[in-house]
Amino acid sequence: MTSIAQLLDAPVTPACDPGLATPTWDFDALPTYGPGASVADVVPAATTNARSRPGQLPIAYQRMTNDELHARIAAAKASLGDRVVILGHYYQRDEIVAYADFVGDSFQLAGAALTRPDAEAIVFCGVHFMAETADILAREEQTVILPNLAAGCSMADMADEDSVEAAWAELAQVYRFDPDETVGPDWFERHPGGKLPVVPVTYMNSSAALKAFCGRHGGIVCTSSNARTVLEWAFARGERVLFFPDQHLGRNTAKAMGVPLAAMPMWNPRKPLGGNDAEALRDARVILWHGFCSVHKRFTTAQIAAAREAHPGVQVVVHPECPMAVVDAADAAGSTELIRQFVADAEPGSTIAIGTEINMVNRLAAQHPDKTIFCLDPVVCPCSTMYRIHPGYLAWTLESLAAGEVVNEIQVDPDVARHARTALERMLAAAPKPLTGTPSTSTTSTSSTTGGPR
Ligand code: 13P
Ligand code: SF4
Repeated sequence: MTSIAQLLDAPVTPACDPGLATPTWDFDALPTYGPGASVADVVPAATTNARSRPGQLPIAYQRMTNDELHARIAAAKASLGDRVVILGHYYQRDEIVAYADFVGDSFQLAGAALTRPDAEAIVFCGVHFMAETADILAREEQTVILPNLAAGCSMADMADEDSVEAAWAELAQVYRFDPDETVGPDWFERHPGGKLPVVPVTYMNSSAALKAFCGRHGGIVCTSSNARTVLEWAFARGERVLFFPDQHLGRNTAKAMGVPLAAMPMWNPRKPLGGNDAEALRDARVILWHGFCSVHKRFTTAQIAAAREAHPGVQVVVHPECPMAVVDAADAAGSTELIRQFVADAEPGSTIAIGTEINMVNRLAAQHPDKTIFCLDPVVCPCSTMYRIHPGYLAWTLESLAAGEVVNEIQVDPDVARHARTALERMLAAAPKPLTGTPSTSTTSTSSTTGGPR
């Protein structure tokens, strides 16, 4: 299978960040880099404690050859056996996916964390917010490890707790409610048919603190696979929704549900009332936080037009973090798992152009040699924070575990975890649904399984 490194070695393939052409370890040592790079590259405050401090990767691991690293990962994993479960997001490099017990999108991996309650440790090959979620959902005795604590998410960084609290206080003045009032988990049962003035909905790509904020205020978490079901849940319980941090997922989902664009004002946290007047906010159905994914915003309608011209009959499927015009011009839009399913369901001989992260696209292309599969963006552009889980970190964390030492643990503050769990449990009950479209040849399945073994 083609790895990013091999792709970058090919002289004709341009990359979105020249740093990607440097040796992996040099690239990994850069403080920030490329699309997807986390603004601060620090562990979110709600998970900072003595054990969560980034450990320094021992130099010995940096000097190991790939073959040595792979041999050591395999040996450590074998010696740990059922004591450890390794979860890998679809955007991880092939070298990491090879060792994952479960590979999936963020919804599936949140569920997968629950399927192995006997494992002592969950090693999450993904980014901060995913590992935090696993820690919140796991049993208290279980340890969650993020192999490289610098693996964040630039979109998640775009909504911090202070800015969301400040926005909430301003909205409370417009809608006349008490911003400090906690809406207990049983509020909806105690007020049948009652509606809150505004329901906070956070995308999974957010800190544990913001998930807790939603849990405290009658809100819910969504992922890209169940955003539509979650918005239905929220509209049944509130007059409107404050959706953060991804404006595109919020807009694309609400638009597919028939919400007019005029009822979706944008909230810019640096402006009073988010840059809106009170009347527009009173008429709003979905208030969209000004956040975005720097990987998915690279996709354009011009790329789709070029793919259609070069490949008549091509089917275009994109992730809903892409801008609205791109989702509108595509044949289908859905989460990472739904994209995988779209490709699996397409007839042999189909040509499919995909608008999502390059590791995922290359893997799909390798898994379906009977179909022509390519990335809409001709430039190689991995999510550079997902890319930070290098095999060296996996070898180090697994060997440390086998030696009885926990490194790079993610541990969410118990009070934050308690409220975040409320919002996450609501999210887990919301079944995935495609946003738009199915492959033209068969039906897209909307499996709600909790992650599958590879
Ligand atoms: P999924 O919800 O599809 O796993 O996406 C997570 C993500 O970070 C996409 O950029
Ligand atoms: Fe964050 Fe996903 Fe975008 Fe990476 S691809 S920056 S994890 S939203």
